[in-house]
Amino acid sequence: MTDAVWSPTSWQSRAAAQQAVYGDSAALARTLEEMGRLPPLVTSWEIERLRNDLARASRGEAFLLQGGDCAESFDDCRAEPIAAKLKILLQMSLVLVHGTRKPVIRIGRIAGQYAKPRSTDHETRGDVTLPAYRGDLVNRDAFTSADREPDPMLMLRAYERAALTLNFIRALTDGGFADLNHPEYWDVSFAKDSPKAAEYEEIVRGIRESLDFVSAITGVENEVLRRVELYTSHEALALPYEQAQTRQVPRRTGWYNLSTHFPWIGMRTAQLEGAHVEFHRGIENPLGIKIGPAMTKEWLIGLLDALDPQRIPGKITLIHRMGAAGVREKLPPIIEAVRSVGRTVLWVCDPMHGNTETVAGGIKTRRFDNIISELEQSFALHNELGSRLGGVHVELTGENVTECIGGARGLIESDLERAYKSRVDPRLNYEQALEVALRLSKHLRANR
Ligand code: PEP
Ligand code: CO
Repeated sequence: MTDAVWSPTSWQSRAAAQQAVYGDSAALARTLEEMGRLPPLVTSWEIERLRNDLARASRGEAFLLQGGDCAESFDDCRAEPIAAKLKILLQMSLVLVHGTRKPVIRIGRIAGQYAKPRSTDHETRGDVTLPAYRGDLVNRDAFTSADREPDPMLMLRAYERAALTLNFIRALTDGGFADLNHPEYWDVSFAKDSPKAAEYEEIVRGIRESLDFVSAITGVENEVLRRVELYTSHEALALPYEQAQTRQVPRRTGWYNLSTHFPWIGMRTAQLEGAHVEFHRGIENPLGIKIGPAMTKEWLIGLLDALDPQRIPGKITLIHRMGAAGVREKLPPIIEAVRSVGRTVLWVCDPMHGNTETVAGGIKTRRFDNIISELEQSFALHNELGSRLGGVHVELTGENVTECIGGARGLIESDLERAYKSRVDPRLNYEQALEVALRLSKHLRANR
């Protein structure tokens, strides 16, 4: 498979799962041509830096926090939700620095997470069958044939929304949003009465004191937490979108997908002979691969050989999502498979996607306890096998939604309808996300 010549369009000769079917191919071509002319969202040197950071994490010298919405929506491309998401990711990372005593690499599921895989291509209501909603990058959620028709123009809108989001994030992180000396950015605002607020504030106080101590004895202002990096990621699902931004850059060899720093291949599009693997094998970006219970040893080794034949440090991050009930059985063979071929990868646990359940009224939710349980089991299993879990991948929002059950505030099933906003998977809210970081941090410190 990997012998054939690769190009940004070579995926088109493979079977591509989970793709929109565009009725107007001339309009699609025009949009792709326009996107191809616009400036990129990220740069090759940022991508190279992230790959080096991830290589460090794969050696145990850093920890990865990846998080954000299941799917971003065009409506949520507004100042408050973006700032809130940035803030919770920064606060979680601070707590994790405290727990791991290591640098934390932050990657948002942000600025491009606009396309979703679906279990069926169509949705039927009564006697009407329409194309499934595949995310704002593809079509619209409303159940009319006009809204569900895939529209290439939405790809361009997604690109622009991603640019607006990233521009705001860059301005905030460059402009002192993450400066530890600006305590207002670190406070737990509306969650002040949260049962976990005191524990968090204690950590912030501790870190600030250590920094003051260091600058007092060295006479040097501590820059460590004054400027922070937030990398972007999304599931590279809609291949025309990814292709339009895959380019060569001056003074470097190879092709870069400049729509994001860190694309990942989802569980449903990881077929060895499929279009997604073909596309990803040709780009320089570090890659995430989601690993679910159905993964086999042969399949995984095939993926690693296809996507990283040269065994480049930091190239591959394996994001396992087995579920709290299945992880003890399913994870060890995967760890052994990677070991058997002598590869070093970065191991990350996604404790969300294997723990989705449907409760009364057809509401999708996840239990906080299952999320914590999968995380703790994953750390233990890696330890037992002489491997190392180097990161977490979570679905969260900086807002006060009620989509997951449990946590210190004890959300129960009947709370879910109060503020359930996700159109796809249930996310941790602000307090629950902070609590995951606190629990993880405690666990890591106890086991250091
Ligand atoms: C996701 O991360 O939103 C997702 C769909 O995950 P997976 O491919 O692991 O099911
Ligand atoms: Co999801």
